[in-house]
Amino acid sequence: MKAIAVNPATKQLELVEHEPPRLQSPTDVRVRILEVGVCGTDREICAFQYGTAPAGSPHLVIGHEALGEVVEIGSAVKRVRPGDLVVPMVRRPCPHDTCNACAVERQDFCYTGDFSERGIQSLHGFMTEQIVDDERYMNVVPRSLRDVAVLVEPLTIAEKALEQIWQVQQRLPWSCPVATERERGSCHQAVVLGAGPVGLLGAMALRVHGFATWIYSREPAPNPKSEIAEAIGAHYVSAESTSIPDLASEIDGIDVVYEATGASAVAFEMMQAIGPNAVFVFTGVPGRRGPIEIDTDLLMRNLVLRNQMVFGTVNAGREAFEAAIRDLETFSARWPEALRALITGRFPLDAHRELLIGAPTGIKNVLSFDGMNR
Ligand code: BGC
Repeated sequence: MKAIAVNPATKQLELVEHEPPRLQSPTDVRVRILEVGVCGTDREICAFQYGTAPAGSPHLVIGHEALGEVVEIGSAVKRVRPGDLVVPMVRRPCPHDTCNACAVERQDFCYTGDFSERGIQSLHGFMTEQIVDDERYMNVVPRSLRDVAVLVEPLTIAEKALEQIWQVQQRLPWSCPVATERERGSCHQAVVLGAGPVGLLGAMALRVHGFATWIYSREPAPNPKSEIAEAIGAHYVSAESTSIPDLASEIDGIDVVYEATGASAVAFEMMQAIGPNAVFVFTGVPGRRGPIEIDTDLLMRNLVLRNQMVFGTVNAGREAFEAAIRDLETFSARWPEALRALITGRFPLDAHRELLIGAPTGIKNVLSFDGMNR
């Protein structure tokens, strides 16, 4: 069975041969992988800036944005059936019984840092023909989402962020006077920093929940990303033509910032321009590029005098996966073409080097394993 892996000792990206996995417990399921999305984290792992191989293995099989089909279930499996399409979760709990988060399956909030992540941290990932895992990590996806379900995992980042935004804003009267439950954000204005897959999926989620949404990104419009923005009713603003202070005065009252660039200088400049009672969410993981100068007095004054809130968010729990599947169905009904345009290419295994270590291209590139392992 073929798998795409990195070898930290030799610093090589390799196509390796693996033994096909077998069920180990009555609650395990075997899944044949259909597709795996390539993301920035994978590219960082392939540049040996991130990622840890499982104990005792010379290599780490990468890939964590997967869609698969269940082919075998253990005798005690209840949540899934053979033939189901599933998106597996990424993070697995730490072994410490003192970790309140992992104890209740919220390893996305693990306290100890000893969690593992499939394809990233101490566990093999999904860029392979078949995997075995416990049914509790599987999320069933309707067949109608076959073409786009590989986007579920990156969308969970936005779903977890949105859920926390609703929770923290319960600190004040934030609900919109005439909003339906579905469009709870309809009186609020959001800025998304970055127009990569995490940014664009975040913008779609914000639009579905009613937010007026601006996407701030480097490339001048028109381009494929600005076309997606337009299709979903968001405003695309290029950093080449509009400064952050100009963007802020155009919007006049930024309630939410969803950061999805990993560029800290842009993020902290934006933070200085947010409105009263605003929430700023970080999702990007920047490389360490060294210190920058920021006006910390201004930031601190604003945070206090305007009741602002800043938080970071990583990974996602089951509820975020379920919300992502629901929202993906809504995106697919409302903007079928824009949603499909997020996936810029589906490639055979042979293309893995180019996608993982070549120059970045497109929006979301996907490796297809379908047909290899029937
Ligand atoms: C993944 C998350 C993971 C994070 C840090 C992201 O690319 O989507 O599941 O927690 O990287 O490893």
